Amino acid sequence: MKKTFVTLLSVVLLGVMMTGCGAEQPRVEQPAGIEQNEVLTPTAEPTATPEPTATPEPTATPEPTVTPEPTATPEPTATPEPTATPEPTVTPKPTATPEPTATPEPTATPKPTATPEPTATTEPTTTPEPTATAEPTATPKPTATPKPTATPKPTATPVPTKAPEQKSEYTFDFSELKYLTHYNCSYEINGDGVMDIRYDKQYGEIKWMLPQEIDMTKCHKVTVKAKSAYGQMSVKLFDEAILSNTWCQEVFVRYDCKGEDIVEFELYPELESSITAIGIMGLNNVEDFSKYKATVYSITFHMISEPEWTVPKQIAPDVTADMSFLNTYGTVFERFGAAVSIQELRHPAILPLITSQYSSITLGNDMKPDFLFTFNPKFISVEEAKKQGYFIPENYAEKTVPVLNFDDVDEALKICAENGLGMRAHTLVWHSQTPTWFFRDGYVRDGAYVSPEVMDARVEFYIRNVMKHVYDHKYGHVVYAWDVVNEYYHSEMNTSDWKKVYGEQGLMPSFVKLAYQVADDVLCEYGIRDKVSLIFNDYNTFVVNGHENTPEALLSIVDFINSDGKICDGIGMQAHIDVYWPGEAVFVQTVQKFLDAGLEVQITELDITIKNPTATSIDDQRKLYGQLFKDLLEIKQKGGDISSITIWGLCDSTSWLKEHSPLLFEDYDTPKDAYYEVLQAYLDAGFRVK
Ligand code: GLA
Repeated sequence: MKKTFVTLLSVVLLGVMMTGCGAEQPRVEQPAGIEQNEVLTPTAEPTATPEPTATPEPTATPEPTVTPEPTATPEPTATPEPTATPEPTVTPKPTATPEPTATPEPTATPKPTATPEPTATTEPTTTPEPTATAEPTATPKPTATPKPTATPKPTATPVPTKAPEQKSEYTFDFSELKYLTHYNCSYEINGDGVMDIRYDKQYGEIKWMLPQEIDMTKCHKVTVKAKSAYGQMSVKLFDEAILSNTWCQEVFVRYDCKGEDIVEFELYPELESSITAIGIMGLNNVEDFSKYKATVYSITFHMISEPEWTVPKQIAPDVTADMSFLNTYGTVFERFGAAVSIQELRHPAILPLITSQYSSITLGNDMKPDFLFTFNPKFISVEEAKKQGYFIPENYAEKTVPVLNFDDVDEALKICAENGLGMRAHTLVWHSQTPTWFFRDGYVRDGAYVSPEVMDARVEFYIRNVMKHVYDHKYGHVVYAWDVVNEYYHSEMNTSDWKKVYGEQGLMPSFVKLAYQVADDVLCEYGIRDKVSLIFNDYNTFVVNGHENTPEALLSIVDFINSDGKICDGIGMQAHIDVYWPGEAVFVQTVQKFLDAGLEVQITELDITIKNPTATSIDDQRKLYGQLFKDLLEIKQKGGDISSITIWGLCDSTSWLKEHSPLLFEDYDTPKDAYYEVLQAYLDAGFRVK
């Protein structure tokens, strides 16, 4: 049975109890400096590599070894994408990850191992700090490849047939593709449909027609299995113009694949059209061209369709196909959400899946400091900043400020507003994913750490400008909660630039309190203090062992923050847990402890890993999800202020912990049994679908 998508139109704003907007704001000041990211150096495709005007299209196999490009069809001049679009990884988490296979009490306070974030961009394994200065000068994206004016229609251009019914993925090797054209390289296809290419100039390319057109509005990812030694390979996608021309419109290109190893190179094209052909281009970084070769095994298009909802009656006897998180949990908790990337949010096939299940999103990465500063940061003078509307704290004594880029945040706010979604804003102060230059003299990566006074001013600059931007925005009202500080309790001297500046401040961190004072002040200024929650977010919030009592420590920190008036409303329990650790009872008791202390609780990053997948552990994950949700419902029913629940990602296949299948959907359109268990838990707790 097909599920009907629900577009939620109304936003129920959080009614959060809190004290007045009073806490006096220490004002702060200063910043200056510069730094940018590394960019690939060679940028130009050959402009003068003519293809013959008559483009004899080889019908049979012996391919022309050199097919020069037409003069009238210049390749876009500067293509390669900066490699440094990387998403910084995951917080370096505590090293000791518990392997809770046998229900042990872990001694340390680990978080699941660091795996990439659930976004739609490839992530490097180390958090890249902007190193050099090179800005990608004028890297014009070849969106508008000029069409050849006089290219004759090839008589034998293969025409792809319309895609028949959509599959979940399409994998093609080169025995299935049809050769179109190539230049500056030679190639061979072996018996397995694998293509070996040798490039003989700095740039070379070979184009292939797909056996069918692919509707890219339904494709969330393209993977290319390849290796590319002594250079790097790009993949290009071409639109249907190829049907009438030997040349075609390049709609996407990404340079990235390099190295001796075979990799599954991932691309996330955001296209609103169909494509009919691909290009494999080589960019040679070495003088000796003969060394550069690439092997391409296959290309896969990963598609999304409207999910088929088949309720497994043996595990969810009362669940009906019209039930969703939205019309169940979404009616009990003020917000029920998921972490998403901006790419997922704007994807025409993924957005309806989000709005059919959730009433809230958290941007998994796109609102973190390194994203707002961008990986190619810019700095402007204080005068210029004032002209542009930045808030400059009174005690800001530096001459420049870093520029904040809100393009993706603005887009996300609009999408949320138009689709009835609220947003948790994540995150302002964090030891990870905040560039080290932000803490240093002159905003320079290897400068000395600034004084706490200088940093206080930078903190106010950052928080005020981010929050001001959001609430000045037409759709800023969708933001109902802020993770003002993330993981302070678990930050360490050796990994936290904050601690390098402020020293170890234990349970009374001045900069943490300052952050809440500034945030509280902004909400008061906008008259929305009672509509928006300021949250202290952390992981392993439930760990109690011989050396530590995390819930108590967190309560002490929040007490310190609130010592002059309540400016921190509650605790965000990240909830990255395992099927066998810490157990549902411990988790739920901790929720209760925070509630008993008069705080609001938000479950902010729920996922449940399976470290050792067996039939039993998979089933245990299902049961744990069900039990946990049932317990949370019961607490809520008794008046416990759990104001939102957010699941950390949309599906296992894109989760930061994808090796451990931690979520409720396998792929975007494939609910797991655990999903139905959670819906059954709702009915079992005595609730009915509204
Ligand atoms: C922490 C952060 C999140 C995210 C996860 C890993 O929990 O709060 O933003 O980085 O780690 O995905």
